[in-house]
Amino acid sequence: MHYIPVSKPYFWGDELTNVTEAVTSGWISSNGKFIDEFEVKFAEAVNARFAVALNNGTSALQLACDLIGLKRGDEVIVPDFSMIAPLFALEYIGCVPVPIDVDDTWNMDPSLIENEITEKTKAILVVHNYGHPASMIKIAAIAKKYKLRIIEDAAEAIGAEYNGIKVGSWGDVTCYSLYANKIITTGEGGMLTTNNEDLYNLAKFKRNMAFGSSAESRFIHKTIGYNFRLPNIQAAIGCAQIIHLEDSIKHKINIASEYSHHLKNVSGIVLPPSSRNVKNVYWVYGILIEESYGISKNELQTILLKKGIETRNFFMPVHKQPFLKHISIDASKYHKSVKLAKQGIYLPSFIGLSYKEISKIADTIAEIQLKNHRI
Ligand SMILES: Cc1ncc(COP(=O)(O)O)c(C=O)c1O
Repeated sequence: MHYIPVSKPYFWGDELTNVTEAVTSGWISSNGKFIDEFEVKFAEAVNARFAVALNNGTSALQLACDLIGLKRGDEVIVPDFSMIAPLFALEYIGCVPVPIDVDDTWNMDPSLIENEITEKTKAILVVHNYGHPASMIKIAAIAKKYKLRIIEDAAEAIGAEYNGIKVGSWGDVTCYSLYANKIITTGEGGMLTTNNEDLYNLAKFKRNMAFGSSAESRFIHKTIGYNFRLPNIQAAIGCAQIIHLEDSIKHKINIASEYSHHLKNVSGIVLPPSSRNVKNVYWVYGILIEESYGISKNELQTILLKKGIETRNFFMPVHKQPFLKHISIDASKYHKSVKLAKQGIYLPSFIGLSYKEISKIADTIAEIQLKNHRI
């Protein structure tokens, strides 16, 4: 049976040449020409002044929290619907996440933020979910009004735009993941971008164990540092990937519009959000399965898997995470994120997925609906 996974990496062709060059040169750790080249190209591609290559996106988030000076007990506004890494980053420091329910874009609803701000609130950690940017004009205005810092988590939304402005342009610091299921990848990897030169210098210093800058001071550590370095071998892959960012995004958008074309009239299927003033880069193609579809999303997933089509559940809401049970959260506030978790799945959408495969998947979903509708 032909198996279609939800995700797999796509290689454009130069990855192996670059990796061979890195290995042949002997620069296989975190020094080497590909690191600098990757950072420069990445910053240019996302419209940032500075980029710092890191070993993964979770490290980028942890470093971002450190850079903006978050401390134990500080409250940070987060979306209730999110991949877990930003919540872990806050937990490493001892910050208190304050989850906000989502709006119809599946991102933090800005109209609910002000109600949650207290004198302990220090930052808003915005996650751009599934490729659709959050409502950054409103969020940035709130941050300005209350003097809050902004961390953007653009791991799932590299290249996405809000009102013609790229994600990453609104925050103090922006974090990206380069994990193998991301739009561009280095296998494992991350990137932190900023337009602030001081934060950039601090990020580079802390990424590499906070070593002193001269031979005499090398082993004198003025502050805590991390080993969050990205190896040159992986940066070599990144250099081959980043030049195809726009092509990669085009593929993602084409996959999404092909799915939407096939699924738009299927009863009980809610398509992913798309708004006029937004460029959604569709990291994944997520749909909601409503009651009128005829069977539950779990039943649908089981049938699809039997036909060789892998799907994935949406995230569990933050307020339901067992590791956060020490924080008192009013669970009645989160109708929309609960609904997303209950009804949401995402379909295969890797670069290289053929139109034939997309129509097979979409037609299967439509046929299952028709069959169950008749019963
Ligand atoms: C929104 C978001 N933030 C952070 C991460 C963590 O990145 P990494 O897996 O590279 O640590 C991911 C996914 O992997 C993610 O989807």
